[in-house]
Amino acid sequence: MRVAFLGLGRMGAAMAKHVLDAGHDLVVWNRTPGKADDLVAAGAQEASSPAAAAEGADAAVLMLFGPESVREVLPDVARQGLLIIDSTTIGPDAAREFARIAASKGARYVDAPVAGSIEPATAGTLGVLGGAEEADWEHAQQLLQLWGDPAKVRRIGPVGSGSALKLVVNQGLGVLAAGLGEALRMATELGLDRDVVLDVLEQGAYGFTVKQKRALIEDGDFSATRFSVDLLAKDLTLAINATRDADLEVTSAALSAALRTIDAGHAGDDYAAIIGHIADEGSESGTANSH
Ligand SMILES: NC(=O)c1ccc[n+]([C@@H]2O[C@H](COP(=O)([O-])OP(=O)(O)OC[C@H]3O[C@@H](n4cnc5c(N)ncnc54)[C@H](OP(=O)(O)O)[C@@H]3O)[C@@H](O)[C@H]2O)c1
Repeated sequence: MRVAFLGLGRMGAAMAKHVLDAGHDLVVWNRTPGKADDLVAAGAQEASSPAAAAEGADAAVLMLFGPESVREVLPDVARQGLLIIDSTTIGPDAAREFARIAASKGARYVDAPVAGSIEPATAGTLGVLGGAEEADWEHAQQLLQLWGDPAKVRRIGPVGSGSALKLVVNQGLGVLAAGLGEALRMATELGLDRDVVLDVLEQGAYGFTVKQKRALIEDGDFSATRFSVDLLAKDLTLAINATRDADLEVTSAALSAALRTIDAGHAGDDYAAIIGHIADEGSESGTANSH
């Protein structure tokens, strides 16, 4: 196949490499130049525009920031007969909108956000939450299974359903981060030792988050980003907007925590910065490991 891959951020660069490794022809594009060097050295071609990347391609994969970035790029990519796999986290309304745009140009659109971060993207063991017509879903498997674990590549339903489930998944990340930050702040107020608190929380309901983020929390350094605070804030905003009648109070509180963390200068840091920022918000030290 000739595959166009658009968006070489942390996830896209890792996913695109599998396309080359599988022996397909790969044409890449990224808004900011300079991100394609490793892939070009490994055999990819770099295109000067989204339209040039899609020219002559059988399939195009989008791994951009969010719905606004896809809305900018998609009209230049969609063309007769092209299979478009959108792995950007965009929410269900945008997925249905983009499927209509693709269809209006004779292209097929598969909503395929991923679950998991950079390590599984590199290892090819991501989860894929799919929303697509069955025939399009089948057609997309030869690419989706390059970065996804076959046991975790699931069609949830029609276009929009994969993106809907992805927002449910990331609501959990946001709530756990804000909740853990507040638990640590509470522990400090109660005069508890943070190391002991983390030891005990690691065995309980916050175990997943503590295990994944403890080293960053203890260092108070969140610059080794896997999933950034601004991406999580985007996803919590999408979740709230997609379910306007549901009055998601806890999700809104998690979004507020993420936005305060961004205001404190952590937009591009790992989302564990939310834990550190909320844990020490209002304290004199302002760092996660001084208590
Ligand atoms: N990181 C994770 O652990 C993770 C896990 C699952 C899902 N996701 C989702 O996967 C997607 C990519 O995540 P990531 O971590 O790879 O993000 P990232 O490193 O921030 O990369 C974002 C990509 O989007 C591009 N972009 C942003 N705005 C654009 C625009 N207006 N037009 C064209 N391109 C634009 C960026 O280009 P520039 O280089 O020019 O900025 C970059 O290539 C997001 O939707 C995210 O929510 C991430």
